Amino acid sequence: MTRKSVLGALASIAGPDRKKDIVRLGMVRDLEVRGRVATFAVSIPRPGGTFANTLVARCQEAVRSAHGPDVEVRVRVTARKGAKSPLQLGTRHLVAVASGKGGVGKSTVAANLAVALAQQGFRTGLVDTDIYGPSVPTMFGVENEKPRVNRNRKIVPLERYGVRLLSMGLLVDAAQAVIWRGPMVSSAVRQFLGDAEWGELDVMILDLPPGTGDIQLTIVQTVSLSGAVIVSTPQRVALADARKGVAMFQQVNVPVLGIIENMAYFTPPDMPGRRYHLFGEGGARKLADEVSVPFLGEVPIEQRLRESGDEGTPIVIAAPKSTSAKAFTAAANQVVSAVADHADAQTAAPEIVYR
Ligand SMILES: Nc1ncnc2c1ncn2[C@@H]1O[C@H](COP(=O)(O)OP(=O)(O)OP(=O)(O)O)[C@@H](O)[C@H]1O
Ligand SMILES: [Mg+2]
Repeated sequence: MTRKSVLGALASIAGPDRKKDIVRLGMVRDLEVRGRVATFAVSIPRPGGTFANTLVARCQEAVRSAHGPDVEVRVRVTARKGAKSPLQLGTRHLVAVASGKGGVGKSTVAANLAVALAQQGFRTGLVDTDIYGPSVPTMFGVENEKPRVNRNRKIVPLERYGVRLLSMGLLVDAAQAVIWRGPMVSSAVRQFLGDAEWGELDVMILDLPPGTGDIQLTIVQTVSLSGAVIVSTPQRVALADARKGVAMFQQVNVPVLGIIENMAYFTPPDMPGRRYHLFGEGGARKLADEVSVPFLGEVPIEQRLRESGDEGTPIVIAAPKSTSAKAFTAAANQVVSAVADHADAQTAAPEIVYR
C-alpha cells in the first residue's frame, strides 16, 4: 500500500457534485501511509448532510477493497472554514444525553452520537460526567491514558475517532468518587467545560450519570445546555423514569431534543426477518408522542454493539452498516436539526452560565 495506490482507490468516490471525484477536487488531505495503516482527512464543503454522512464508510470501503480487508483506514472529515451548516459553527452547542433509569444505554448513545457527528465534519467534544461509573474511557479504548496538562495549566482532552473527549473516570479515583456530592461533581463538570483546552467546537455531548437526582439537576442547572436527548428502553419502569427525565429538563427550561429507544428489539442473526420485542414494543415512541417531543428512532439489541463498546471502537466505526450504526447516524442528523431549530428560536445565549 502506497500513497499513490490509496489515492487511486479514493478516486473512485464521486464528490458532492457527482461529477469529479474527491481526489481531483482536492478534498483529500494529509495522507500518510504506514505499513497497513492509511490516515487522511477529507475536507467537505459543509458539515452534516447525506454526502458527509456516508463519506467515512465509503472511503474505508474503497481503500479496503483495493488493498485488503485487514487495512486500517483512519479518516477524518473536516468542514471548510466559513462553511454553511444547519448549525452555527464554533459556538459549542451543549447537548446532554440522559435517562431516568441506569443501564439503558446512555453512554453507548452518547459515544456513537459523538462519533457520528465528528464523521459528518462537526468538531465534536464528549464529556463523561459519570464519576461513579464512567464508561466512556472503555468505549473509546482510552482507559489507560491520562490527559496531559499544557503550559497554561489547562487539561488537554484526548482525541479518538475525531472526537475530543474527557472523562471524570480518567481523573477521579473510583474509590474516592463514592464520597463526592452534587456540588463537587457539578463544579468539576464546569471545570471540564470551561477550563480544558477544547479548541473550537461545534457540538459537545455530555454523558450524564443515570437518574434525575441531585447530581443531574445541579449539572443541568449550572451549564447552559442547548438541549437534551433522553434514552429509554421500551420497558415500563424505564419509561416511567424517562418521563421524569423529560420533566427535569422542562423544569429548568432545557429543550428536550427527542427520545431515542434503545434495546428496541432483537433480531437473531440467523432469522433476519424476525423481531423479538424483549422489553416491550413501541413504548418510547408513545412516550415521545405523549410529551410532544420528537422520536429519534430505535436501536435494536445487537451483540456487535455490546462488543464494540467493550473493545473501545464505537459501532458507527466498527460496523457502519449495522442497523444500530445507521440508527445512531440518523439520530445524530435529527439532533443537529433540532439544536439548530431551537437555537434559531432563542436569542443568542451565553456559552456557559455559572450560577
Ligand atoms: N442496543 C444494545 N445492544 C446490545 N448491547 C447494548 C445496547 N445498548 C447498550 N448495550 C450494552 O449495555 C451495557 C450498558 O450500556 P451503557 O453503559 O451505554 O448504559 P448507560 O445507560 O450509560 O449505563 P449507566 O446508567 O451505568 O451509565 C453496555 O455493556 C452496552 O454495551
Ligand atoms: Mg453510562
